[in-house]
Amino acid sequence: MSLTLIILYSKTLVGEFMPISSKKKLNEKKAALEVVKPIKTKPYNDIDLNNWKLYENVKTGTWWEFSSREKSGGHSYDYHGNYIPQIATQLLTRYTKKNDIVLDLFFGSGTTGIEAKNMQRRCIGVELKQDMVDYVSSKFTKKELVVDVNIIQGDSASLDAKEKIKARLEIMGEKSAQFLILHPPYDDIIKFSDKKEDLSNCATTEEFYDLFKKVAKNGYDLLEQNRFAALIIGDKYANSRYVSLAFECQKRMEELGFVTKAVIVKNITGNEKAKGKTANLWRYRALSGGFNIFEHEYIMIFQKTKLKKVKQKV
Ligand SMILES: C[S@@+](CC[C@H](N)C(=O)[O-])C[C@H]1O[C@@H](n2cnc3c(N)ncnc32)[C@H](O)[C@@H]1O
Repeated sequence: MSLTLIILYSKTLVGEFMPISSKKKLNEKKAALEVVKPIKTKPYNDIDLNNWKLYENVKTGTWWEFSSREKSGGHSYDYHGNYIPQIATQLLTRYTKKNDIVLDLFFGSGTTGIEAKNMQRRCIGVELKQDMVDYVSSKFTKKELVVDVNIIQGDSASLDAKEKIKARLEIMGEKSAQFLILHPPYDDIIKFSDKKEDLSNCATTEEFYDLFKKVAKNGYDLLEQNRFAALIIGDKYANSRYVSLAFECQKRMEELGFVTKAVIVKNITGNEKAKGKTANLWRYRALSGGFNIFEHEYIMIFQKTKLKKVKQKV
Protein backbone atom coordinates (compact mmCIF):
# COMPACT_ATOMS: atom_id res chain seq x y z
CA MET A 1 0.00 0.00 0.00
CA SER A 2 1.44 3.42 -1.00
CA LEU A 3 2.01 6.26 1.50
CA THR A 4 -0.87 8.26 -0.07
CA LEU A 5 -3.24 5.37 0.52
CA ILE A 6 -2.13 5.03 4.17
CA ILE A 7 -2.90 8.74 4.71
CA LEU A 8 -6.28 8.60 2.95
CA TYR A 9 -7.60 5.46 4.64
CA SER A 10 -8.17 4.79 8.27
CA LYS A 11 -9.63 1.82 10.12
CA THR A 12 -13.28 2.20 11.15
CA LEU A 13 -14.94 0.73 14.23
CA VAL A 14 -16.16 -2.27 12.25
CA GLY A 15 -12.67 -3.03 11.03
CA GLU A 16 -13.15 -2.00 7.40
CA PHE A 17 -11.00 0.53 5.54
CA MET A 18 -12.63 3.67 4.21
CA PRO A 19 -11.55 7.16 3.08
CA ILE A 20 -11.11 9.70 5.92
CA SER A 21 -13.76 11.98 4.39
CA SER A 22 -16.29 9.10 4.42
CA LYS A 23 -15.38 8.28 8.02
CA LYS A 24 -16.06 11.90 9.00
CA LYS A 25 -19.44 11.78 7.28
CA LEU A 26 -20.29 8.49 9.04
CA ASN A 27 -19.40 9.97 12.43
CA GLU A 28 -21.57 13.02 11.70
CA LYS A 29 -24.48 10.74 10.75
CA LYS A 30 -23.94 8.68 13.92
CA ALA A 31 -23.96 11.85 16.06
CA ALA A 32 -27.13 13.04 14.34
CA LEU A 33 -28.79 9.67 14.97
CA GLU A 34 -27.84 9.85 18.65
CA VAL A 35 -29.53 13.27 18.95
CA VAL A 36 -32.81 12.06 17.44
CA LYS A 37 -32.82 8.72 19.32
CA PRO A 38 -36.54 8.24 20.07
CA ILE A 39 -37.80 8.62 23.63
CA LYS A 40 -38.93 5.28 24.99
CA THR A 41 -41.51 5.47 27.80
CA LYS A 42 -44.05 3.18 29.45
CA PRO A 43 -47.76 4.15 29.27
CA TYR A 44 -47.73 5.12 32.96
CA ASN A 45 -44.74 7.47 33.32
CA ASP A 46 -42.41 9.82 31.44
CA ILE A 47 -39.14 8.04 32.29
CA ASP A 48 -37.12 7.73 29.08
CA LEU A 49 -35.89 4.15 29.14
CA ASN A 50 -33.38 4.97 26.39
CA ASN A 51 -31.70 7.21 28.96
CA TRP A 52 -32.43 5.17 32.08
CA LYS A 53 -28.98 5.79 33.53
CA LEU A 54 -29.83 9.49 33.95
CA TYR A 55 -32.51 8.74 36.59
CA GLU A 56 -30.16 8.17 39.50
CA ASN A 57 -32.50 9.96 41.92
CA VAL A 58 -35.44 7.67 41.20
CA LYS A 59 -35.67 5.01 43.86
CA THR A 60 -36.12 1.40 42.74
CA GLY A 61 -35.18 -0.36 45.96
CA THR A 62 -37.33 -1.56 48.85
CA TRP A 63 -35.59 0.53 51.53
CA TRP A 64 -36.28 4.27 51.48
CA GLU A 65 -34.49 6.77 53.68
CA PHE A 66 -34.47 10.56 53.33
CA SER A 67 -32.05 12.66 55.35
CA SER A 68 -34.55 15.48 55.94
CA ARG A 69 -38.05 16.63 55.06
CA GLU A 70 -38.36 18.73 51.89
CA LYS A 71 -39.54 22.21 52.88
CA SER A 72 -39.30 24.05 49.55
CA GLY A 73 -41.87 24.17 46.73
CA GLY A 74 -44.77 25.17 48.99
CA HIS A 75 -44.31 22.28 51.44
CA SER A 76 -44.31 22.66 55.22
CA TYR A 77 -44.68 20.42 58.25
CA ASP A 78 -47.99 21.98 59.21
CA TYR A 79 -50.06 18.87 59.97
CA HIS A 80 -49.27 16.13 62.44
CA GLY A 81 -49.55 13.03 60.26
CA ASN A 82 -48.63 14.43 56.86
CA TYR A 83 -46.14 12.46 54.84
CA ILE A 84 -42.81 13.80 53.64
CA PRO A 85 -43.10 15.36 50.15
CA GLN A 86 -40.29 13.19 48.76
CA ILE A 87 -42.69 10.22 48.89
CA ALA A 88 -45.02 12.04 46.47
CA THR A 89 -42.09 13.11 44.26
CA GLN A 90 -40.86 9.53 43.93
CA LEU A 91 -44.32 8.05 43.37
CA LEU A 92 -45.43 10.62 40.80
CA THR A 93 -42.17 10.17 38.87
CA ARG A 94 -42.54 6.38 38.73
CA TYR A 95 -46.29 6.10 38.21
CA THR A 96 -47.62 9.21 36.44
CA LYS A 97 -47.19 11.14 33.23
CA LYS A 98 -47.38 14.91 32.86
CA ASN A 99 -51.02 16.12 33.11
CA ASP A 100 -52.24 12.82 34.67
CA ILE A 101 -54.78 13.00 37.49
CA VAL A 102 -53.72 11.77 40.93
CA LEU A 103 -56.56 10.83 43.26
CA ASP A 104 -55.77 11.13 46.99
CA LEU A 105 -58.61 9.88 49.21
CA PHE A 106 -57.03 11.02 52.52
CA PHE A 107 -55.89 14.46 51.43
CA GLY A 108 -54.99 15.91 54.87
CA SER A 109 -52.73 18.95 54.44
CA GLY A 110 -52.56 18.42 50.66
CA THR A 111 -48.94 17.25 50.25
CA THR A 112 -49.97 15.22 47.18
CA GLY A 113 -51.75 18.20 45.62
CA ILE A 114 -48.79 20.55 46.14
CA GLU A 115 -46.34 18.07 44.62
CA ALA A 116 -48.72 17.21 41.77
CA LYS A 117 -48.90 20.91 40.88
CA ASN A 118 -45.10 21.29 41.17
CA MET A 119 -44.67 18.34 38.79
CA GLN A 120 -47.33 19.48 36.28
CA ARG A 121 -49.75 16.73 37.24
CA ARG A 122 -53.37 17.33 38.26
CA CYS A 123 -54.96 16.17 41.49
CA ILE A 124 -58.31 15.44 43.14
CA GLY A 125 -58.16 15.25 46.93
CA VAL A 126 -60.88 14.16 49.36
CA GLU A 127 -60.68 15.10 53.03
CA LEU A 128 -63.24 14.59 55.77
CA LYS A 129 -62.41 17.64 57.89
CA GLN A 130 -63.90 20.88 56.59
CA ASP A 131 -61.32 23.00 58.49
CA MET A 132 -58.50 21.17 56.67
CA VAL A 133 -60.26 21.58 53.32
CA ASP A 134 -60.53 25.34 53.95
CA TYR A 135 -56.91 25.57 55.09
CA VAL A 136 -55.49 23.53 52.21
CA SER A 137 -57.60 25.46 49.68
CA SER A 138 -55.82 28.63 50.81
CA LYS A 139 -52.53 27.12 49.56
CA PHE A 140 -53.74 27.34 45.94
CA THR A 141 -55.02 30.13 43.72
CA LYS A 142 -58.66 30.14 42.58
CA LYS A 143 -57.60 29.12 39.08
CA GLU A 144 -55.41 26.29 40.39
CA LEU A 145 -58.35 24.98 42.42
CA VAL A 146 -60.33 24.53 39.21
CA VAL A 147 -57.65 23.49 36.74
CA ASP A 148 -54.95 21.70 38.77
CA VAL A 149 -56.08 20.69 42.25
CA ASN A 150 -59.71 19.89 43.02
CA ILE A 151 -60.48 19.49 46.72
CA ILE A 152 -63.65 17.76 47.94
CA GLN A 153 -64.90 17.69 51.52
CA GLY A 154 -66.43 14.30 52.20
CA ASP A 155 -66.23 10.74 53.44
CA SER A 156 -64.07 8.83 50.96
CA ALA A 157 -65.90 5.60 51.80
CA SER A 158 -69.24 7.03 50.64
CA LEU A 159 -71.14 6.82 47.37
CA ASP A 160 -71.65 10.57 47.63
CA ALA A 161 -67.88 11.24 47.52
CA LYS A 162 -67.53 8.78 44.63
CA GLU A 163 -70.18 10.64 42.61
CA LYS A 164 -68.52 14.00 43.38
CA ILE A 165 -65.15 12.68 42.20
CA LYS A 166 -66.72 11.39 38.98
CA ALA A 167 -68.24 14.83 38.37
CA ARG A 168 -64.86 16.54 38.93
CA LEU A 169 -63.16 14.04 36.63
CA GLU A 170 -65.70 14.88 33.94
CA ILE A 171 -65.05 18.62 34.33
CA MET A 172 -61.32 17.85 33.98
CA GLY A 173 -62.04 15.90 30.80
CA GLU A 174 -61.31 12.42 32.18
CA LYS A 175 -63.34 9.29 32.97
CA SER A 176 -60.94 7.99 35.60
CA ALA A 177 -57.84 8.88 37.58
CA GLN A 178 -54.37 7.70 36.53
CA PHE A 179 -52.88 7.19 39.99
CA LEU A 180 -54.35 6.54 43.44
CA ILE A 181 -52.76 7.50 46.76
CA LEU A 182 -54.09 6.14 50.04
CA HIS A 183 -52.51 7.49 53.22
CA PRO A 184 -55.14 6.61 55.83
CA PRO A 185 -54.94 7.18 59.56
CA TYR A 186 -52.97 4.35 61.15
CA ASP A 187 -56.13 3.24 62.97
CA ASP A 188 -56.31 5.23 66.23
CA ILE A 189 -52.59 6.17 66.49
CA ILE A 190 -53.39 9.84 65.72
CA LYS A 191 -57.01 10.82 66.24
CA PHE A 192 -57.96 13.29 63.50
CA SER A 193 -61.59 14.00 64.51
CA ASP A 194 -64.63 12.78 66.44
CA LYS A 195 -66.58 12.10 63.24
CA LYS A 196 -68.05 8.61 62.96
CA GLU A 197 -66.81 8.36 59.35
CA ASP A 198 -63.22 9.11 60.44
CA LEU A 199 -60.96 6.04 60.08
CA SER A 200 -59.02 7.21 63.14
CA ASN A 201 -62.18 7.09 65.22
CA CYS A 202 -63.31 3.49 64.79
CA ALA A 203 -64.60 1.49 67.77
CA THR A 204 -62.50 -1.51 66.75
CA THR A 205 -59.61 -2.28 64.41
CA GLU A 206 -61.94 -4.60 62.42
CA GLU A 207 -64.17 -1.58 61.79
CA PHE A 208 -61.08 0.34 60.63
CA TYR A 209 -60.31 -2.43 58.10
CA ASP A 210 -63.94 -2.41 56.87
CA LEU A 211 -63.95 1.36 56.33
CA PHE A 212 -60.51 1.21 54.71
CA LYS A 213 -61.76 -1.42 52.27
CA LYS A 214 -64.75 0.76 51.33
CA VAL A 215 -62.43 3.69 50.57
CA ALA A 216 -60.06 1.44 48.62
CA LYS A 217 -63.04 0.06 46.62
CA ASN A 218 -64.04 3.60 45.59
CA GLY A 219 -60.41 4.19 44.61
CA TYR A 220 -60.30 0.95 42.60
CA ASP A 221 -63.47 1.83 40.68
CA LEU A 222 -62.20 5.34 39.88
CA LEU A 223 -58.73 4.24 38.75
CA GLU A 224 -57.90 3.63 35.10
CA GLN A 225 -57.19 0.00 34.15
CA ASN A 226 -53.49 -0.99 34.33
CA ARG A 227 -52.60 2.06 36.43
CA PHE A 228 -51.00 2.08 39.87
CA ALA A 229 -51.96 2.80 43.48
CA ALA A 230 -49.82 3.48 46.57
CA LEU A 231 -50.73 2.73 50.18
CA ILE A 232 -48.68 4.48 52.85
CA ILE A 233 -49.26 3.02 56.29
CA GLY A 234 -47.56 1.98 59.53
CA ASP A 235 -48.32 -0.70 62.10
CA LYS A 236 -49.18 -0.37 65.79
CA TYR A 237 -49.06 -2.04 69.17
CA ALA A 238 -52.30 -2.65 71.07
CA ASN A 239 -53.06 -4.73 74.15
CA SER A 240 -49.41 -5.77 74.44
CA ARG A 241 -49.26 -7.21 70.92
CA TYR A 242 -48.13 -6.22 67.44
CA VAL A 243 -50.95 -5.33 65.02
CA SER A 244 -49.97 -5.35 61.35
CA LEU A 245 -52.31 -2.73 59.92
CA ALA A 246 -50.20 -2.62 56.75
CA PHE A 247 -50.43 -6.29 55.83
CA GLU A 248 -54.12 -6.47 56.77
CA CYS A 249 -54.86 -3.47 54.50
CA GLN A 250 -52.73 -5.04 51.75
CA LYS A 251 -54.94 -8.14 52.03
CA ARG A 252 -58.06 -5.97 51.55
CA MET A 253 -56.49 -4.27 48.50
CA GLU A 254 -55.76 -7.69 46.96
CA GLU A 255 -59.33 -8.85 47.70
CA LEU A 256 -60.57 -5.89 45.64
CA GLY A 257 -58.48 -6.97 42.65
CA PHE A 258 -55.30 -4.92 43.12
CA VAL A 259 -52.05 -6.78 42.39
CA THR A 260 -49.17 -6.05 44.79
CA LYS A 261 -46.10 -4.81 42.87
CA ALA A 262 -43.81 -3.72 45.73
CA VAL A 263 -43.57 -3.46 49.49
CA ILE A 264 -41.19 -0.67 50.48
CA VAL A 265 -39.94 -0.07 54.00
CA LYS A 266 -39.42 3.59 54.78
CA ASN A 267 -37.27 4.85 57.63
CA ILE A 268 -39.38 7.24 59.73
CA THR A 269 -36.72 8.27 62.22
CA GLY A 270 -35.83 11.91 61.77
CA ASN A 271 -38.91 12.63 59.63
CA GLU A 272 -41.19 12.90 62.66
CA LYS A 273 -41.55 15.71 65.16
CA ALA A 274 -38.79 15.33 67.76
CA LYS A 275 -39.56 12.56 70.17
CA GLY A 276 -36.63 13.74 72.30
CA LYS A 277 -38.48 14.04 75.57
CA THR A 278 -40.39 10.80 75.22
CA ALA A 279 -37.55 8.77 73.63
CA ASN A 280 -36.27 7.53 76.98
CA LEU A 281 -39.78 6.57 78.07
CA TRP A 282 -40.30 4.52 74.89
CA ARG A 283 -36.94 2.85 75.38
CA TYR A 284 -37.83 1.93 78.93
CA ARG A 285 -41.22 0.62 77.80
CA ALA A 286 -39.57 -1.43 75.02
CA LEU A 287 -37.04 -2.95 77.40
CA SER A 288 -39.63 -3.78 80.00
CA GLY A 289 -42.41 -4.85 77.60
CA GLY A 290 -40.42 -7.02 75.19
CA PHE A 291 -41.31 -5.05 72.05
CA ASN A 292 -39.32 -2.84 69.66
CA ILE A 293 -39.74 0.86 68.87
CA PHE A 294 -41.12 1.62 65.39
CA GLU A 295 -38.51 3.06 63.03
CA HIS A 296 -40.33 2.30 59.79
CA GLU A 297 -43.59 2.51 57.88
CA TYR A 298 -44.63 0.92 54.57
CA ILE A 299 -45.22 2.18 51.08
CA MET A 300 -47.03 -0.53 49.16
CA ILE A 301 -47.41 -0.34 45.41
CA PHE A 302 -50.35 -1.96 43.62
CA GLN A 303 -51.54 -2.20 40.04
CA LYS A 304 -55.11 -2.45 38.80
CA THR A 305 -54.44 -5.19 36.30
CA LYS A 306 -55.49 -8.68 35.40
CA LEU A 307 -52.97 -11.31 36.45
CA LYS A 308 -51.98 -13.80 33.77
CA LYS A 309 -53.39 -17.21 34.67
CA VAL A 310 -50.70 -19.54 36.00
CA LYS A 311 -51.00 -23.13 34.75
CA GLN A 312 -51.79 -25.44 37.65
CA LYS A 313 -49.51 -28.44 38.12
CA VAL A 314 -51.41 -31.76 37.84
C1 LIG B 1 -52.60 10.32 57.60
S1 LIG B 1 -53.56 11.70 57.22
C2 LIG B 1 -53.16 12.06 55.55
C3 LIG B 1 -52.08 13.09 55.47
C4 LIG B 1 -51.74 13.53 54.06
N1 LIG B 1 -51.12 12.49 53.27
C5 LIG B 1 -50.79 14.72 54.12
O1 LIG B 1 -49.64 14.62 53.65
O2 LIG B 1 -51.18 15.74 54.67
C6 LIG B 1 -55.17 10.98 57.09
C7 LIG B 1 -56.28 11.96 56.78
O3 LIG B 1 -57.45 11.23 56.47
C8 LIG B 1 -58.59 11.97 56.91
N2 LIG B 1 -59.73 11.04 56.97
C9 LIG B 1 -60.05 10.15 57.92
N3 LIG B 1 -61.17 9.46 57.60
C10 LIG B 1 -61.55 9.91 56.39
C11 LIG B 1 -62.62 9.58 55.50
N4 LIG B 1 -63.53 8.67 55.81
N5 LIG B 1 -62.72 10.26 54.33
C12 LIG B 1 -61.80 11.21 53.99
N6 LIG B 1 -60.78 11.57 54.79
C13 LIG B 1 -60.65 10.93 55.97
C14 LIG B 1 -58.13 12.56 58.22
O4 LIG B 1 -58.90 13.68 58.58
C15 LIG B 1 -56.66 12.91 57.92
O5 LIG B 1 -56.54 14.24 57.49
